[in-house]
Amino acid sequence: MTGVIGQPVDRKDGPAKTTGQARYAAEYPYPDIAYAALTHATISRGRIESIDTAEAEAHPGVIAVITHRNAPRTKPTAPMSMIDLNSLAPGTNVNYLNADEVHWDGQPVAVVVAESADAARYAASLVRVRYQTAPATVDFQAAVPGAVKQKSSPLGTGAKKGDAQNALAQAPVVVDEQYSTPPHHHNAIEPHATTAHWEGDKLTVHETTQNIPYVRGHLAKKFDIPAGNIRVICPFVGGGFGGKINVWPGTVLAVLAAKATGRPVRMSLSRKAVYRTVGGRAPSTQRVALGAERDGKLTSLIHTSVTRLGHVGGAGEQIVSMSNHAYDAANIYTQQNTVTLDVMSNTSMRAPGESIGSFALESAMDELAYKLGMDPLDLRMRNEPARNPVNGNKFGHRMLREAYALGAEKFGWAARTPEPGSMRDGKWLVGMGMATAYHPAWQFGSNAYVRLDQDGTVLVKVAMHEMGMGAATAQAQIAADALNVPVDSVTVEWGDSELPFAPGAGGSGQTASVAAAVLDACRKIDKRRRELDRKGFVEATSGGGDLRNNLKTLRHLVSSRRHVKAASGAQFCEVRVDADTGEIRIARFVGAFDVGTVINAKTVASQLRGGIVMGLGMALAEETLVDPRSGRIMNPSLSEYHVPVHADIPDIDVHWLGEPDPNMPLGLLGVGEVSIVGVAGAVANAVFHATGKRVRDLPITLDKLL
Ligand code: MOS
Repeated sequence: MTGVIGQPVDRKDGPAKTTGQARYAAEYPYPDIAYAALTHATISRGRIESIDTAEAEAHPGVIAVITHRNAPRTKPTAPMSMIDLNSLAPGTNVNYLNADEVHWDGQPVAVVVAESADAARYAASLVRVRYQTAPATVDFQAAVPGAVKQKSSPLGTGAKKGDAQNALAQAPVVVDEQYSTPPHHHNAIEPHATTAHWEGDKLTVHETTQNIPYVRGHLAKKFDIPAGNIRVICPFVGGGFGGKINVWPGTVLAVLAAKATGRPVRMSLSRKAVYRTVGGRAPSTQRVALGAERDGKLTSLIHTSVTRLGHVGGAGEQIVSMSNHAYDAANIYTQQNTVTLDVMSNTSMRAPGESIGSFALESAMDELAYKLGMDPLDLRMRNEPARNPVNGNKFGHRMLREAYALGAEKFGWAARTPEPGSMRDGKWLVGMGMATAYHPAWQFGSNAYVRLDQDGTVLVKVAMHEMGMGAATAQAQIAADALNVPVDSVTVEWGDSELPFAPGAGGSGQTASVAAAVLDACRKIDKRRRELDRKGFVEATSGGGDLRNNLKTLRHLVSSRRHVKAASGAQFCEVRVDADTGEIRIARFVGAFDVGTVINAKTVASQLRGGIVMGLGMALAEETLVDPRSGRIMNPSLSEYHVPVHADIPDIDVHWLGEPDPNMPLGLLGVGEVSIVGVAGAVANAVFHATGKRVRDLPITLDKLL
């Protein structure tokens, strides 16, 4: 051990980014590059009756206008769902520009290729389309009563223990409420972009993705070429958050446009095009019913949800997942339901499921605490389970009590007076709220190549993703520690499908997955150090990771539903609400987390803070507005889709326990998503404490307080 694990090591990718050397997908120069832009459908369902491309074609600089009439044929994609991973992560099941059908408002109906990005975008607006409109169902709220049980999800679609309904009816203290969350959209700093280049039947794709193997697999299927003919390159990703796990139309159509024109093609989506063609988070309505004894012991926990899919694809989020793991209720019933509408697929987004599910669960726990006249933290401590509450499985590791205690101490929870409105500072109503965070820990198979040279330098190669979280730095620390060299001696290569396989970066599982492979290779090298003198270097490759194995792993998790490894934490929030205007400001935020081992104190703190910021956005600002008549997204830009800015964010104080989980590689539980979970609940609870008003519908905007 070199002691480098846990140190706040500077990021390996820092200098490249701060000096502008880091190259993103839309920045790869090709001498004869052409630029592509999309024309979007303006109906939710129907057919293209006629499409007039003459004006667009006549625009100066336009090379081609590609529609369903002249597009190269591509292979249809199998119907997809999150669980049918054989379909290789298509964002939708639409065979773009291969038919005249329209399935959602915003679907690409033409691609314009031009000598400049401006010409392409302008000419895309000149494509005239006439539609034969068919009746479409787009209104989520109106569709909720017709919801059906969700088909499948990697974490199950619900659970049952005992008779929760009966226990609720018998319970002396009951909370039974409806909560709702709106659709959300991805707004990464780097909008989705592809640079595609064909040489014969070989394809190079510079792609902003968190899922190299799926991009490669999907394009191989779509264009009917061997995966080995495709190289996917993405050393830097300007934020993913789940929005770059699937393959969306822009990617496929950039490759198709390059094929049709014989030119390298760059498709850099406008922000609006991201809203139209990349899935976001689906809206939800949720019921949480809690029954308790007067001492706070939970006798019944019911959590049901309805969310939305598109006919073209999508997957229900694991909205009730946290309710299967959080509290030791004697009877539990959870169930996820869906409606399927004529809208774009939803996709993974920033702790899918747990983030919005925890808003409902943690609000309800707070409501119960008030009914009981009990401190909300004490109520949670009282119901902290010794084993998995649904299946009775032993926890290999669970430290929520410690996280609650640490967070409460750092926040100063003891100073809170329980009565709503009792803590006032001039015109500001002060409120303090808390909530629990929970996120499952994932590990997938990965490979890695490691080479140790006689001069003590180390090279690590693995096709992982750097989306801004410090992935390469963490792996450098892990290799440095394992081979006992300084971290500066370690070089990491990543972000290229030619490198050893790494799984997609999702579910907060990349670091643990890749760590297992890097450690394995390092151990092999360590055993053969004597070869150093003879050969000048020792190299090793760890095996075990490929797409097929990982699909099996996922299927196993689905069928066994025994996923109990998890990161967790406690979120504490102080809000100040203007007594006259209802303006809500976050005054302080403290999070205390059990994320297992911490590899890099600097990047982990940054990840945890970033997650809390996302949670604050969910709590107070973010909301995609969908026109319930037309199905069109009405606010597809950062001027109308509100995210927190610096002025909205106070100092965020993050802490961790740092105890390894013995069942995970290096004891890692993942830090990408857990800190989003519980934030919206903590804010809602703090707002209630400040004002006495319970807002059960996100985002909490001032009009809901007046
Ligand atoms: Mo995440 S929503 O698994 O990028």
